[in-house]
Amino acid sequence: MRYTASTEVELREVHDSDLPVFFRQTNDPESLRMAAFTAKDPTDRDAFDAHWERIRAAPDVLNRTVLVDGDVVGSAAVYGEPGEREVTYWIDRSYWGRGIATAALRALLATEPERPLHARAAADNAGSLRVLEKCGFRVTGHDRGYANARGEEIDEVVLTLEA
Ligand SMILES: CC(C)(COP(=O)(O)OP(=O)(O)OC[C@H]1O[C@@H](n2cnc3c(N)ncnc32)[C@H](O)[C@@H]1OP(=O)(O)O)[C@@H](O)C(=O)NCCC(=O)NCCS
Repeated sequence: MRYTASTEVELREVHDSDLPVFFRQTNDPESLRMAAFTAKDPTDRDAFDAHWERIRAAPDVLNRTVLVDGDVVGSAAVYGEPGEREVTYWIDRSYWGRGIATAALRALLATEPERPLHARAAADNAGSLRVLEKCGFRVTGHDRGYANARGEEIDEVVLTLEA
């Protein structure tokens, strides 16, 4: 079953009660491997809580919870300095392949006026690259970076959404 932005997929502000759900979602081994550029130790709950406290208080971070039929299925955010703002998102593995990340990113882009916007993904994160491409991002660069979830330096793709 596929979802569209106008119906089941919604974004709202992050509630305290979403955090345990995000913690579980971001500790799934397959998701971690795919995202690659993750926290040093995703199982460290104190570090996770400190991170969320910081980004929820930061005026330049737009954090959103992704809901499908009222269920918390992930998160999406825009962060960074003007001119260098980046998008990021994470969807619960049990909901993959239904168009949810694409709908969530479209909704996020509709609430964030800044352009250009940037994104980064591991070069082998085909799902994320496809989501970005479907939302209008184009590849503008290549990089190498240390991926905590892989324990090694890997190729990274930089994408940009122009006005
Ligand atoms: C990447 C992620 C957000 C995708 O979420 P999703 O809800 O499954 O995404 P969608 O269903 O909207 O779109 C996925 C697209 O990628 C495609 N895709 C998925 N896996 C793929 C693969 N291995 N090879 C090629 N295409 C793939 C799907 O077919 C779909 O494209 P289509 O609509 O043209 O068929 C999700 O897998 C995730 O949260 N992963 C872990 C965290 C992460 O990687 N975040 C991004 C960091 S840059």
